[in-house]
Amino acid sequence: MVGSESRYQAFLDALGQDRLRRELTTVAARDARILEAGGRAYINLASNDYLALRFHEALIARACEWAKADGTGSGASRLVTGNLDLFARIETKVTTLKQKPAALIMASGFQANAAVLQALLDRTVLGAEPLVFADRLNHASMHFGCKAADVRQLRYRHGDAAHLAELLTQYQADSRPKFILTESVFSMDGDRAPMPEIVALAHAHDATLIVDDAHATGILGEGGRGLSDGADIVIGTFSKALGSFGAYVACSATVRDYLVNRCSGFIYSTALPPPVLGAIDACLDLVPGMDQERAHVASLAARFREGARTRGYDTGASTTQIVPVIAGSADAALGLSAKLREEGFWATAIRPPTVPQGTARVRFAFTAAHDQADVDRLLDALAAAASLPTAKAVSA
Ligand SMILES: Cc1ncc(COP(=O)(O)O)c(C=O)c1O
Repeated sequence: MVGSESRYQAFLDALGQDRLRRELTTVAARDARILEAGGRAYINLASNDYLALRFHEALIARACEWAKADGTGSGASRLVTGNLDLFARIETKVTTLKQKPAALIMASGFQANAAVLQALLDRTVLGAEPLVFADRLNHASMHFGCKAADVRQLRYRHGDAAHLAELLTQYQADSRPKFILTESVFSMDGDRAPMPEIVALAHAHDATLIVDDAHATGILGEGGRGLSDGADIVIGTFSKALGSFGAYVACSATVRDYLVNRCSGFIYSTALPPPVLGAIDACLDLVPGMDQERAHVASLAARFREGARTRGYDTGASTTQIVPVIAGSADAALGLSAKLREEGFWATAIRPPTVPQGTARVRFAFTAAHDQADVDRLLDALAAAASLPTAKAVSA
């Protein structure tokens, strides 16, 4: 074994000892509600397909239609020959949904955060290293973008506008460009950023507010437009409530033009393929009219939160379709996930470094495909799990 291999192996062994090693489990999704693994069917509580759109006939039909008409690949980056006319059509729909002057489609949510933040925080363009105020629990891809730009983040306590205000005041006299970075809904907690306060602070301190609206777009806000009102730049993904893949930046025309010229993750990457664009196009038609589905999902999540809390579980500060049950140790989270799996529920244990030490959890995500009976059976399984000895933990 070469030296590097033995070091990788040692790293994996150490993860295993701490119950933090991850493994890929093969599954087959039968529809938005059921997945199969190892010959058994499970209720899927671990997908971000909140509106159950990924099996929607309209998305599938338009994906097929656009593949037939325009091929399965785009052939090049958008600045070369990949800028199919399909993009303009979708970007116009994104500007309507997000109520922004311009939009740019990117390859994925992770790639968008990584590449767009790198470009926007570029000190050679800004004239100085920017001051970046960031929520401590922002998604890994936002940290990655800051790292790629080689900027130090000034992290404020999670969801704490008062702490953000304190930090901004501390740097009030500093003339360097200021940015505030936050998610609107936090992916592992299901809580919401205090957006009105953050928007006011951004205005008061002349800071550019960049919001990752990944877990709100489609499922929260008026007409499913998300929870990013007042942000200067919104980044979001089509891979969650929108049932497809790819991402968008909604912004001013200048920022869009700047990204086309400066964002290497856009310039040097092949454009999204027509079938994916077809699915995005169809979901953007459906989302504004899905108030009933949004209300249904919200009521399922509220029912679960209430039931879980009554049974003694800690669901944190969740107010959305994402509800964690915080178990503490990695072992406890894996144990709970395993017990639920025995009962036919697929909910994944989330461990450090995805969440802070001591807050390992099982993350539940409710979708339009679930019903009240699913939630009630899940609550029964949770109650039974509380009184069972730790089952053989599954890796997730
Ligand atoms: C807040 C947030 N931003 C970005 C991403 C990445 O999006 P995508 O899955 O489209 O790469 C995720 C998904 O994991 C996320 O939770």
